[in-house]
Amino acid sequence: MKHTPKTIYLKKQAGEKIVSLSLYDFPTARIADQAGVDLIMVGDSVGMVLLGHPSTLAMTVEQMLYHTAAVSKAVKRALVVADMPAHSYDDPATALRNARRFLKESGADAVKLEGGSKVRDQIKELVAAGIPVMGHAGMLPQGIGDGKYRVYGKESAEAKEIFEDAKLLDQLGVFSIVLECIPAKLAAEITRAVRCPTIGIGAGPSTDGQVLVLQDLLGIRSGVSPRFVRRYAKLEEAIQKAVGRFCRDVRKKKFPSKKESFA
Ligand code: KIV
Repeated sequence: MKHTPKTIYLKKQAGEKIVSLSLYDFPTARIADQAGVDLIMVGDSVGMVLLGHPSTLAMTVEQMLYHTAAVSKAVKRALVVADMPAHSYDDPATALRNARRFLKESGADAVKLEGGSKVRDQIKELVAAGIPVMGHAGMLPQGIGDGKYRVYGKESAEAKEIFEDAKLLDQLGVFSIVLECIPAKLAAEITRAVRCPTIGIGAGPSTDGQVLVLQDLLGIRSGVSPRFVRRYAKLEEAIQKAVGRFCRDVRKKKFPSKKESFA
């Protein structure tokens, strides 16, 4: 059965954890979907992870549509959430126009926006138009550009702001909220205070779900190792070994063999 924003929302009441990955292409989406992931975010982190940008800010609506369409084609069961890139929701009318494009042109089931009170009117507009929205509070990568990534909400004024933003998002009718890089205690308080599920990344164990960037989980980004990443594989090493063997075989004229050639 294909997940909907409602089935994801109801998981909190059922006490079931939500499993989510951020990924960006057809083959990995197919594999993750078959492996049982509930929700796939097509994150604008694609700009950093796959395209080599220093931040997420360079991503455009067209690029996010391209990646989301590839993911949507592969997915049969998971909910697909498209990240709206920076400046694609600067005002309510722009937000609505672009969110509609994500649903219509890329096959996304929902969209994600960063921020709380600053995007209140945009979220109101989308929810009123029947567009399922995921919120994002705590560290907001679009707001810091290539500035320093850090834990947000360690001191009380910032923690209060994040808490209030999460409460507001819940009241506005988002179906879930990503909590990024905040202390575990704050994430637990927010999770208790809101009706919708929270999905944490660097937010400790008490959120209703967890999300990681697939390349981090697979050990493909050796240069990046935030404390919250758990590596379930060492694919960078495996890929290097495989490519190294290919190099050797070609240079020693051991590839291709007769069997790998046409008569
Ligand atoms: O861009 C992204 O991948 C994200 C998730 C990690 C939450 O925003």
